[in-house]
Amino acid sequence: MNQVLRKGFKDIVVTEVPDPALIAHHVLVRPCYSLISSGTETASIHPDVLKTVRENPSHLQTILNVARVEGPVKTFNEVRAKFDAYAVLGYSGAGYVSAKHQTVTDLEIGDRVVYGGEGTGHGETISTGRNLVAPIPEDVSFEHACFTTLGCIAMNAVRTAQIGVGDTVAVVGLGLVGQLIAQLARLQGAVVAGFDLRADRADLAKNLGADYAFTDPASVKEGVLGITGGRGADCVIIAAASKSDAPCRAAVSMCRDRGRIVVVGAVEMSFPWDEMYIKEIQVLMSRAYGPGSYDAEYERKGRDYPVSYVRWTENRNMQEFLRLLEARKVDVAPLISHVYPLAEAPAAYGEIMNGSGGSLAMVLRYPQADFPVPAAQALKQTVFTPNVAAPAAAPGTIRAAVVGVGGIFRWAHMPALEKIPDVSLRAVYSSSGARGKTCAERYKAVYCTTDYEEVLRDRDTNLVIVVSRNQYHASQTAEALRAGKHVFVEKPMALTVDECRDVYNAVQESGKQLTVGFNRRFAPYYVAQRKRLMRRSGPAVINIRVNSPGISYPYWMADPAIGGAILGEACHFVDLFYWLLGSEPTRVYAHSLPTGSTEPVGQNNLCATFQFADGSIGTLNYSTVGSKTSQGERVECFAQGFGVTTENFKSLAIHEDSSKVETKLLPRKGYDSQMKSFIEAVREGRKPAVTVVDGVRATVGCLRMLDSARTGEPRDIDLAGVIA
Ligand SMILES: NC(=O)c1ccc[n+]([C@@H]2O[C@H](COP(=O)([O-])OP(=O)(O)OC[C@H]3O[C@@H](n4cnc5c(N)ncnc54)[C@H](O)[C@@H]3O)[C@@H](O)[C@H]2O)c1
Repeated sequence: MNQVLRKGFKDIVVTEVPDPALIAHHVLVRPCYSLISSGTETASIHPDVLKTVRENPSHLQTILNVARVEGPVKTFNEVRAKFDAYAVLGYSGAGYVSAKHQTVTDLEIGDRVVYGGEGTGHGETISTGRNLVAPIPEDVSFEHACFTTLGCIAMNAVRTAQIGVGDTVAVVGLGLVGQLIAQLARLQGAVVAGFDLRADRADLAKNLGADYAFTDPASVKEGVLGITGGRGADCVIIAAASKSDAPCRAAVSMCRDRGRIVVVGAVEMSFPWDEMYIKEIQVLMSRAYGPGSYDAEYERKGRDYPVSYVRWTENRNMQEFLRLLEARKVDVAPLISHVYPLAEAPAAYGEIMNGSGGSLAMVLRYPQADFPVPAAQALKQTVFTPNVAAPAAAPGTIRAAVVGVGGIFRWAHMPALEKIPDVSLRAVYSSSGARGKTCAERYKAVYCTTDYEEVLRDRDTNLVIVVSRNQYHASQTAEALRAGKHVFVEKPMALTVDECRDVYNAVQESGKQLTVGFNRRFAPYYVAQRKRLMRRSGPAVINIRVNSPGISYPYWMADPAIGGAILGEACHFVDLFYWLLGSEPTRVYAHSLPTGSTEPVGQNNLCATFQFADGSIGTLNYSTVGSKTSQGERVECFAQGFGVTTENFKSLAIHEDSSKVETKLLPRKGYDSQMKSFIEAVREGRKPAVTVVDGVRATVGCLRMLDSARTGEPRDIDLAGVIA
């Protein structure tokens, strides 16, 4: 399909990407029209990158912080890659439902709907959560309905403002959002005064029902005082887009004593303290389209809020805006300044960016709009973009597919693959067409797809690297093995005992190689620590302490429903215990922080003691509540006559007759050696250093640890019972 994307920081292109995959609680929509949200979308377009960085020095600081951890070369490569990366723009459109997941039961294919949601964009097929889709009344055209998401942004601001009949409401900034706010505020019974620096926008607001409109910043305060008998506005809604604090200052000046200011627009939020104090003004933020925004449970998993507790959710706001359009109480037709065919989207953005053409609402029209009903052909999903140049792979090479293209692949696995001769990336599977295409172009893959079956069917792919979210690891791994591919899967290999069995069986049935990303086994300081421990004369005592404050809500890995930080990350340390000692963990007894809160997630914070087959003992203290400055991980091992400690992949201390301490500036995490070792194992047909049994042990160890913390009882780690 064709999609409008930002390439790098400034170029707008219409380019071919795979159709999005259909996932649970989502539908696919073929848009007829979508609306460019001018203020929001252009805020992410930077014609002069250096100027943007100069204006926001924090960007530079972020890059320096990353370079300190990852090293200057990798950081430079990632920053450079951003200049070619694709990003999705847009979030408001209308079209036909072209496919629905079985979890969606109240919509039919062919239904006319509006859609919204971050990441949906302007493309010929849109994937969107059920709660961000609403049916369009018969009398409302697609061209008008495509304003709905923007309408909900305005509606949420007006609800936040709690306007009463007769209140005077000043709207600062009369762009797309401000015009809609002005109309909705009037419907609430307000006297509306609009203010924009542009006369054409002020005039339009008046034509659409605003009672007053001002354009001169020097006299707007007097203007508002004049129409309110010297009181000032009861409420000011800031809908301007500005890098200055002028809209905030203007808002304070025209707001009455003990009035309210609602901030919707992206402006420099700086309010004069003395005037704010004297007037005791309240400031309220208005976020997106209403309750549900940014809640993955609501937006992505289709979980609604009870109407008796949350009357106006995002979706109920969408329905209400459509009702207002149908009842002709809101008029969007006069806001439409241009309609461009999808293919000419770059010209539309050019028009908004140069700002001189008097543009307001720019609407994109799609080929689907030419069909009075969705033609079966037009609704067929396409999934393949061999639109990238790649050198032909020579016979005998490893041809890899990557599943999920997040940071770990870009920062660790792909740089490692690039150092190994005769290995190439052939396929990229990502649920996002834009991300998949970015990755495929960057690493010269032959194709990208949003259909995993495509990868499984591809006979030229002989290795699959599974780096998707944790809940997909086991199924994607087992499917790839059964399709005859070798697999490198990031930890955790599996989340449940059943998944462990399935992956284990898939390895036995297929005879293919599988490894799990336990990179610590290849990190030089852990290797040295193990070497010393292997020469011990009796059982050891190990203390592992981990501080991971990054794994906290709303980061998906913190979610206990998918194993949380323990299965997701602490599995590394169950494996590390086993590998350092060369002895099986047999029993665990754990305690967690109190559970039940969203943050901190109690079960992600554990103190666990382990017993091992050789009599060794260990403790794992895993915390997500610390500070980023308290360092990450420290592994202390003691056995007869010596102690050996590693910290953060950067230091090693061996204490026996004398002490030896070694430190490095940058952490050495073992990713390169890990990949090299696995590719060699595949080529030589021998068992990899980390096997499926290691993956099973780590998962079972974590499951028992969590179970122990939940029940308050110690648990046996019964590997043989799982994969007998
Ligand atoms: N809070 C949210 O959830 C949310 C959602 C969408 C958009 N937004 C933001 O709302 C803002 C408006 O979006 P839009 O699409 O209407 O943008 P727009 O570019 O169409 O309109 C912005 C208007 O602000 C006016 N303006 C700029 N400086 C001003 C000043 N000092 N005084 C008076 N008017 C001034 C401009 O002339 C323009 O008409 C943007 O910053 C956007 O990012 C916020």
